[in-house]
Amino acid sequence: MALLNILEFPDPRLRKVAEPITEVDDGIRQLCKDMFETMYEAPGIGLAATQVNVHKRLLVCDISEDQSQPLVFINPEIQQFSEAVSSYDEGCLSVPGYFEEVERPDSIVITALDQNGETFQLQIDGLLSTCIQHEIDHLNGKLFVDYLSPIKRKRIRSKLEKQHKKRA
Ligand code: NI
Repeated sequence: MALLNILEFPDPRLRKVAEPITEVDDGIRQLCKDMFETMYEAPGIGLAATQVNVHKRLLVCDISEDQSQPLVFINPEIQQFSEAVSSYDEGCLSVPGYFEEVERPDSIVITALDQNGETFQLQIDGLLSTCIQHEIDHLNGKLFVDYLSPIKRKRIRSKLEKQHKKRA
């Protein structure tokens, strides 16, 4: 297993739209393992392949407190959104240190492939639904800061850019 490097906003590679996975093979399963390790180490509750500079439609998440509910979604598609919304203070491993309230549909029906290439469908709500919608946004090149006001987004951007300069 390997810890992967997580891209940080405003890295332009976070804006790439990920491509569908045509075959779920050992390489994909290894990528899932590495992404879980990277996500747990960070620590975070979700990670999209885009964030580790792999532009394939794959995300992992685990909203449990004891790493007991790992979930993999390959080529995820949201089939239905509820009209009801809920809002959470969202954070992102690609926007470290910032949390902002984002409103999203509360419940979704999602289809995806699992690590064996089998299709499954789930109806989910609450935090898991928010987490997966956030991660699917990553696969489409979108970040939670895009839901904020331009002023807030700009402020976060310039603070992170300063940190990146210091690190370089
Ligand atoms: Ni994120």
